[in-house]
Amino acid sequence: MDLRVSISPLQRTIAGLVEGLLHSSMRVLITGGAGFIGRHICEHFQHRAEVRVPDNLRSGFESNLSGLKCQLIVGSILDRDVVKEVIKGVDFVFHLAAMVSVQQSVQKANECAEINAGGTAIVLEEAARAQLGCNLRRQSNDSKN
Ligand SMILES: NC(=O)c1ccc[n+]([C@@H]2O[C@H](COP(=O)([O-])OP(=O)(O)OC[C@H]3O[C@@H](n4cnc5c(N)ncnc54)[C@H](O)[C@@H]3O)[C@@H](O)[C@H]2O)c1
Repeated sequence: MDLRVSISPLQRTIAGLVEGLLHSSMRVLITGGAGFIGRHICEHFQHRAEVRVPDNLRSGFESNLSGLKCQLIVGSILDRDVVKEVIKGVDFVFHLAAMVSVQQSVQKANECAEINAGGTAIVLEEAARAQLGCNLRRQSNDSKN
């Protein structure tokens, strides 16, 4: 059974969040953009903003971005220097880089914590350092968030 969410409510959410603020010279950073959700967000921003995608291709695929105009930076969000570099001049961050598999998160709990908690902390800290203010959005599994 495919438990993955339909993308249209997500796209509506994105539209509600940033559409009114967008202009063509804006830059959007999508961590984990070569994954399932990130690829759709990347597609949404085609011809709307410049898109940067840092992704280490752990579970994502370069082919997910084929035909899309975006800059793929193959690297990990655990590498602070990578995050520092890609976040420069960015207006919005969609943070989707994660270990998503429940099975893997049980089998590799430490690595999961490192990516999902540690990686998020690095992205948040570098976003704050780059003075992104409150424009950072993280996709959550919790429908109340
Ligand atoms: N797919 C869904 O239905 C769904 C629903 C609700 C929430 N979410 C959340 O959305 C987020 C993305 O989910 P997804 O389904 O697109 O997963 P996915 O596995 O397809 O995408 C995750 C991406 O993160 C990348 N990645 C992993 N570790 C990385 C690292 N250290 N540095 C850089 N990139 C890294 C992977 O290569 C992959 O491209 C997750 O937080 C997930 O919990 C997904």
